[in-house]
Amino acid sequence: MAKEKQVFYCKECGNEFGKWMGQCPACKAWNSFVEEKVTKTRSSKTVAVSDRPKATSIKDVSSSEESRISTHISELDRVLGGGIVRGALVLVGGDPGIGKSTLLLEMCRNLVKEDTKVLYVSGEESMSQIKSRAVRLGIESGSVMEERLMLLSDIDMDNIESQIDSLGAEVVVIDSIQTIEAPGIESAPGTISQVREVTARLMQIAKQKGTAIFIVGHVTKEGNVAGPRTLEHMVDSVLYFEGDESGGFRLLRANKNRFGSTNEIGVFNMTDTGLEEVTNPSEFFLNGRPEGASGSAVVCVIEGTRAMLVEIQALLADSNYSMAKRTSVGIDFNRVGLLTAVIEKRGGLSLSGCDCYVNVAGGLRINDPSTDLGVVLAIASSFRDRPIDSSTVIIGEIGLTGEIRGVRSVAQRIKEAAKLGYKKAIVPKSNAAKELEGLGVDIIYVSNIRQALDCV
Ligand code: TYD
Ligand code: MG
Repeated sequence: MAKEKQVFYCKECGNEFGKWMGQCPACKAWNSFVEEKVTKTRSSKTVAVSDRPKATSIKDVSSSEESRISTHISELDRVLGGGIVRGALVLVGGDPGIGKSTLLLEMCRNLVKEDTKVLYVSGEESMSQIKSRAVRLGIESGSVMEERLMLLSDIDMDNIESQIDSLGAEVVVIDSIQTIEAPGIESAPGTISQVREVTARLMQIAKQKGTAIFIVGHVTKEGNVAGPRTLEHMVDSVLYFEGDESGGFRLLRANKNRFGSTNEIGVFNMTDTGLEEVTNPSEFFLNGRPEGASGSAVVCVIEGTRAMLVEIQALLADSNYSMAKRTSVGIDFNRVGLLTAVIEKRGGLSLSGCDCYVNVAGGLRINDPSTDLGVVLAIASSFRDRPIDSSTVIIGEIGLTGEIRGVRSVAQRIKEAAKLGYKKAIVPKSNAAKELEGLGVDIIYVSNIRQALDCV
């Protein structure tokens, strides 16, 4: 018989409690409890002990690593750790409208081309909406891709499971987890108990049948995948799709990956025919860089294992306020405040009467301290209205005493600059090394902010 139970979940950590509390005992979050009524109608299956799995020697276990399936989107393959692993459960999170459905439909298009059995389940869009998107993504009528790509517009977990079974799908996309409903749990789709139950059932399908399952999850205002954090613990990999919605630039990052590194990123550009891979991010970010303008500096950031050249722009204007404004886009505001203070105190430039705006061109958000010196020199360049030589790349972290500190992977950064035709590099003295010579770039070593300001 159906038994109704009232439970409270913590929105932050997903733990379940029998009564309401102001603070979650597990994760210490305040006011994070939500009440849900859970009705379990189905009795959990009991399996006879003789049918349960037996312990096996690890040598008899085959690894699913060998049979990765390539998505033929190299940026996605890279983030997944070299392709899709059979039986993996992957959560793809991101703001609404960022391009999750587009990316996964493109992936399905490529997979069916190679005759992989794919099922695209949508609880959000009708079949005809998916079809018109598919046409935009190049799935032409009459093509093999059109014939092989299987769609399902449903929210019922039982039906989804039986469809996966009857099609023998190797890769399944669930768009999105917040719309799917597991019968037997009587709360609405998208509630914590539903999301957890659906994920647990998908996990079971993935592990038992070796089906790779991609789950789309929308992100809340706080930046977490809606539903509890426990969702992230349950899946094998968590990928986040982020970017600047007004522009085309998108970044795919792995937050967790049981089958590869979390350092890799994938770079995409949203066009009117879908997502385009950006195989050379430096070129993409430097595109449209003004020649001979003051306030522009090129730095090199390392994202994952990749070096990318990025332009930093600064603009200083006489302030009309008693307290000058400091604004930054794409870079931490406090960091810019700290750097302007260092320029004033240690570099001897008086910026106090100027509003200062700093922007990272191309919509990227950077978090790499090696860009400090580039920010400082861009600000100084705008202040003096003197352009920085356009073939110079600037590398270095700045300390509060105005010292330039060494950064990691300098050789990799300089190689990237050389590849794009840069001729000069300003580099921290403590990074001086033989290997930096002979890369075709003139190296200027600096150890403090004064020296750096003198060389541009
Ligand atoms: P979508 O994949 O639906 O986002 P999500 O699933 O993350 O909510 O992407 C929607 C946005 O992408 C929408 O604003 C339109 C844009 N878009 C393009 O610019 N070009 C395209 O070819 C497609 C399919 C979408
Ligand atoms: Mg979508």
